Amino acid sequence: MTPNQELNRVEVCFTPCDFHQYEEGFDLIVVIDVLRATSAICTAIEYGVKGIIPLATLEEAREYKEKGYIVAAERNGAIVQGFDIGNSPYAYMKPELKGKTIALTTTNGTKAIRISEQKKTVVIGSLNNLKSLCNWLVKQKRDVLVLASGWKDKFNLEDTICGGAITDTLLKSGQFTSEEDSSVAAKFIYRSAKENMFAYLKASSHRRRLRALDLNADVSYCLTPNILSAIPILKNGIIVPLEVVVEEMM
Ligand code: MLT
Repeated sequence: MTPNQELNRVEVCFTPCDFHQYEEGFDLIVVIDVLRATSAICTAIEYGVKGIIPLATLEEAREYKEKGYIVAAERNGAIVQGFDIGNSPYAYMKPELKGKTIALTTTNGTKAIRISEQKKTVVIGSLNNLKSLCNWLVKQKRDVLVLASGWKDKFNLEDTICGGAITDTLLKSGQFTSEEDSSVAAKFIYRSAKENMFAYLKASSHRRRLRALDLNADVSYCLTPNILSAIPILKNGIIVPLEVVVEEMM
């Protein structure tokens, strides 16, 4: 940092219902839902899915199905009856989805994306794309608000860990500062969890829920940092690869 250079802020909002308390002054939002919506979205975009339409409700999902779209729907961790795909990142690696646009509704993640859609820039974060996302965020020289999707408007541990990882990384760049206690708490939770996130989350609610659904492999995948480089971004209501937006601006 050069002398007199102003620091940007990075803050973590723990739940969508707190968003209105944090959002003022932020026009760059990172939405995270580590288990599993945003990890699945990052995977889909990395593996060549053209776009993802985030939907808040099952009614909207059914309408998109009637229109002929490929539609993915998850509630409480399970695939909703009548839909082919849910929220497993592995489902989005399939070659037949390459180049396709998929409509997606999930319990919390897609709702959080929709809550922030009025903002100038909404990008999708996860542990999987942590490094490339943070490198990009540092270059933006803008204030960053990380919105955790939580669980049904309640705090959750896995999104807090990811929010803390983003905060810790941006603070270490020397170009950011945090003012909110939520951001400080997220950073310290990340630091105590980072050596073994899978074990740290053992008693957490969604880890228990996914374990009961025999989805531990998904959890391991979602908790693996830096295996993806894609940065998905919301553009006109559709999540696309960041390069698409950058190319259009050039
Ligand atoms: C959500 O949006 O709440 C989740 O991603 C739930 C899940 O599928 O694990």
